[in-house]
Amino acid sequence: MNIILIGFMGSGKTTIGKVLAQKLDFTFIDTDEVIEKQLNISIKDIFSCFGETHFRELEKQAIMQLVNVNDSVIAVGGGAVMYHNNLDTLKKIGTTVLLDTPFHKIIANLKGKFRPLVGNAINENVLSELLEYRYSTYKKADVIISTEELDIQQTVDVIAKRLSL
Ligand code: S3P
Repeated sequence: MNIILIGFMGSGKTTIGKVLAQKLDFTFIDTDEVIEKQLNISIKDIFSCFGETHFRELEKQAIMQLVNVNDSVIAVGGGAVMYHNNLDTLKKIGTTVLLDTPFHKIIANLKGKFRPLVGNAINENVLSELLEYRYSTYKKADVIISTEELDIQQTVDVIAKRLSL
């Protein structure tokens, strides 16, 4: 049994994934972290030195490496489900859960943080367009959790309940 958290950057995948893994006594895996550790280079540097296409290749490989993991909560980068056949692969690995986080919370979570696709200065128009573009793919998740009214612990509890864990 694996749980795969998908959703936009800043939707809380890593934060919630860690707490959820702890609650279930599962292993937490973050594909961005897997890439950084295996190659000893930051996601930021991969984007700036080699470009997004190369990052997407590495991301695909990192996801394919997960086919044999078990009892894990896996957080994937916000763009992962948009490229290659990653969404199909992820659905074979486990139950995909969309963290459907409202835009105002996403913006608040991203404040002061760097993301290669956004840089340091958050452009809300660019982000909302990207979210809108991706949303129909995100909604293909097996389970959709609206985090609008929920804090971190409540989100974790709702996910566990929805998955009967
Ligand atoms: C990306 C999201 C990032 C990271 C990379 C690209 C995206 O992960 O994979 O910067 O395309 O949305 P988070 O969703 O954890 O921020």
